[in-house]
Amino acid sequence: KNDSVSFRWITLLLALVRIEAQKKSSINNSAILLTPSLASQCGFNVKTDQWGNTIIFASLQNCFAQNADDKIFTTMLSLRVHGNQVGEDEVHQVVETCQYPAWASREIICEHNYMEVSVKRAAPGDYAPPGNAVPGTNPKFSAPQTIDGGFRITRLKFFSPVEKTMSVTEAQRSGYGIVNSPSRLVLRSPKTSLETYTQMVAGVPMMVLKTSAIFEKKWLATQIEAAVACSVSFTPDTITWYLPCQVDPLISSGQFKLLEVHMGVDGQRLDAAEMAARQYTLFLNDLHVVVQIPVGAAGGHFKSHVQDNQYFTSYMVTPMVELLWTEDDTHEETRYKVLFPIATPFLSRPPQVIDNTVPEQWLFKVLVGPFGSDVALMNITFPSEILSVTDCVARGFSILEHISPNSSSKVFTLEVPFTDPVVQQMREMSTMVYSLHPTFGLLVLPEFTPFSVTAYLEARLVETVPPSISGGCDYKNFYVLVKYGTQGFNFQTMLGKQILTSGLAQQYNLIENGTHLSMAIPFSAPAVAVESSSIRGRLDVVLQNLETKQHMKAFTLACNFPSTLTECFPNGTITSVAVKVESVPSLDPSKLTLRDPSCGPVYSNEHYAYFVFTANSCGTTRKFFPNAMMYVNEISLPDELQKTDPNSEEAEYELKISCYYDINMTHAVAFHPRPRRSEPYAENAKGAKQVAIRLALDDSFSVFHKVEDYPTAKYLQQPLYFEVELMQSNNPKVSLELENCWATQKEDRTSEPRWNFIIDGCASPADPYQVLFHPVWVDSRVQYPSHFKRFEVQMFAFAEDQENLGHQLFVHCDVVICDARNPLGGVCNGQCPNQENRPKGQRRAIQDGLTFKYVALGPILVI
Ligand SMILES: *[C@@H]1O[C@H](CO)[C@@H](O)[C@H](O)[C@H]1NC(C)=O
Ligand SMILES: *[C@@H]1O[C@H](CO)[C@@H](O)[C@H](O)[C@H]1NC(C)=O
Ligand SMILES: *[C@@H]1O[C@H](CO)[C@@H](O)[C@H](O)[C@H]1NC(C)=O
Ligand SMILES: *[C@@H]1O[C@H](CO)[C@@H](O)[C@H](O)[C@H]1NC(C)=O
Ligand SMILES: *[C@@H]1O[C@H](CO)[C@@H](O)[C@H](O)[C@H]1NC(C)=O
Ligand SMILES: *[C@@H]1O[C@H](CO)[C@@H](O)[C@H](O)[C@H]1NC(C)=O
Repeated sequence: KNDSVSFRWITLLLALVRIEAQKKSSINNSAILLTPSLASQCGFNVKTDQWGNTIIFASLQNCFAQNADDKIFTTMLSLRVHGNQVGEDEVHQVVETCQYPAWASREIICEHNYMEVSVKRAAPGDYAPPGNAVPGTNPKFSAPQTIDGGFRITRLKFFSPVEKTMSVTEAQRSGYGIVNSPSRLVLRSPKTSLETYTQMVAGVPMMVLKTSAIFEKKWLATQIEAAVACSVSFTPDTITWYLPCQVDPLISSGQFKLLEVHMGVDGQRLDAAEMAARQYTLFLNDLHVVVQIPVGAAGGHFKSHVQDNQYFTSYMVTPMVELLWTEDDTHEETRYKVLFPIATPFLSRPPQVIDNTVPEQWLFKVLVGPFGSDVALMNITFPSEILSVTDCVARGFSILEHISPNSSSKVFTLEVPFTDPVVQQMREMSTMVYSLHPTFGLLVLPEFTPFSVTAYLEARLVETVPPSISGGCDYKNFYVLVKYGTQGFNFQTMLGKQILTSGLAQQYNLIENGTHLSMAIPFSAPAVAVESSSIRGRLDVVLQNLETKQHMKAFTLACNFPSTLTECFPNGTITSVAVKVESVPSLDPSKLTLRDPSCGPVYSNEHYAYFVFTANSCGTTRKFFPNAMMYVNEISLPDELQKTDPNSEEAEYELKISCYYDINMTHAVAFHPRPRRSEPYAENAKGAKQVAIRLALDDSFSVFHKVEDYPTAKYLQQPLYFEVELMQSNNPKVSLELENCWATQKEDRTSEPRWNFIIDGCASPADPYQVLFHPVWVDSRVQYPSHFKRFEVQMFAFAEDQENLGHQLFVHCDVVICDARNPLGGVCNGQCPNQENRPKGQRRAIQDGLTFKYVALGPILVI
């Protein structure tokens, strides 16, 4: 599999395969363990391929073969797999049957661990049933001795090259296998046998075994010879195997004819097309059969080796050459087959560490390899900890084993996120340096040889901090401060839906100092969205990447409009800004009016309308509360506009304006309404001694409204301070007393309605806002305090039930000049007698010494 770590190797190699061979005929069906020496004696060869598969090669004429007439051969094996994960041994029965009818008179096989010669027996028809086939080491499996007598082999003569004779039993003990089949005699010799000697043939060393078998009765001797030629040369790319064309030790006459030459691998003959596909070559020159195999070619595999933690591979392949020749004199054919395992010398293949990290992905990506397919990754050691492959996967690392398509090699890839603790982080200025030092713990199988490969990875990432925005509001502006990120001033600013052009920047007083920019955007700016009437203004600020136009940063600043949206000035002016709200996009602010449709905005643009009006105009109404008073108007579209398009959104626009005043407020509110034509009015009393009444600006009674001020406008909550003076009198004995004071709306002192606030020198008890008398002291202006009276009246005294504004007041007082030397009681007493007890009209009876005066003041406009 390409995408997951496979531990197939390990499980398979831990499970060792025991091979047991058995004869079908054996009574209790039990089997015998195939040891290496038994294998070479009996014609078995066992090897393991690069995937850990066990491959068993068995000679047709192996000791355990069931032989049917030397044509059909059957072998049965038990494969006992033990040490596997299940615990119990698994046993597999394998039965193979092969047909081989066309025997050459001599067949030679040179295997990895044995040489086998099968010769046609000299005397046809002679038969000795297979006996002594199985070595004496395991007597139970020796077939019963044949009593048949006739043609048993009694002795073997070896020419090594010195002549040496052994009995059959001796030979079997030395590891030779001897088989008599119906028509053939088989001798098998382990490669390591003492009787094997080396002979140079055409420059190639050959291992040679030369024997004769001597038969009992006829003293018949059969020549048996075997030879294997091994001359191999290597280049880093190619294996070349030389085999003599004429295998001298096997050719007695010296005259022979080569009939066939074949090549194969692992005992399998290949045709020309298969050889070409694998880039194998086979050719003959004068002396040799030459086989060439590229290193790494299919059919072989790489085997890994480790020496001093260095990684090596060698290429292993078992090619086969098969020759068929006939000797001129005897016309006997020899089939000669050599299976020759070749392993190249160790090739140093230091594994590569390829860093595929893309820092922007925040991931280390590393590839190690290639390794042979017999290498397994066990664990990864980081400076801080060791993680097994399973740990790594659980930790979220990606570890993959990638096997090349032809299975000859594999690489491992590892991905570790920068955020994992095994990654070390270090800051260098504005650069973050991430480093990873994994050591891959690897194992070569099946030997379990450990080795390791260390990688040093480093990735640098310039820290990108995006710009940030902050801001706030005051009573008229949004203030926006942009702090640049690491990329500096590389963005475009959007205010609402507008791009911040240099013109706008200037208008908003943009200041830029290399790290920050700031600007002030007025509430009335087009970029400001109003979220609901008079409640909140919102400014959306977006910084965009200059190229991609992607939003780098978005920021919204929302502020309640300060009270200045509507302002109530002490002088009675009310200003109000009606802002077009987001929810009524089609509104034309210039069409808005106050309640009085003739009161339009003094200024408007497409975003807002600005109204200035006075509290006594434009349909403003007034409302009273126990301690407060409110002036109310509203801004909307005039009726006729709403009627023409009742469904229009414009109809929904209504902005209420209110000015709320606390009655307890002590500060005076001067109020000048539109000038009037009416003349100042101050009726002087008749008589020598004149009396004056005046209105003071405050309770210090030091500054007074001048005659030309009238009509004077007074705000309803404001107290009125009156002073009445007896003019042109130096007589300290004379005093001025107030008898009655009242207010009327008309100039006529007798007109109705009339509000009494002083009755018979005393505060009117019916008035909830009672008159307050102020004492008079001597000062630069006042020589005789008795000539003065000062009092304070709340304007509300006259305002009951009145909601209409702009009316005027006239204040009237009846004044009495009393002579202190001749006190007459009543008003002149300076006391405030119980009104009930006082006879009505008593003052009319006052004597001549009394002077009655009348003063009036007005108009005072009440707002
Ligand atoms: C069968 O063979 C095994 C030896 O391999 C032996 O232990 C066992 O006793 C034999 N059983 C019989 C019934 O002969
Ligand atoms: C097997 O694959 C590897 C890598 O894909 C390549 O280098 C090698 O030559 C291949 N070997 C054969 C025999 O195709
Ligand atoms: C890691 O694997 C190696 C095999 O390559 C082994 O020798 C070593 O003991 C292992 N370490 C741990 C802690 O398992
Ligand atoms: C730039 O302006 C910001 C904000 O006013 C200030 O904090 C910063 O110190 C200024 N930087 C320089 C270099 O003047
Ligand atoms: C009233 O006061 C405001 C603020 O002081 C001023 O702008 C305005 O002109 C004044 N109006 C009149 C009519 O005096
Ligand atoms: C206003 O005056 C009244 C009566 O003098 C008092 O009860 C009330 O608490 C005052 N209100 C404020 C807001 O001071």
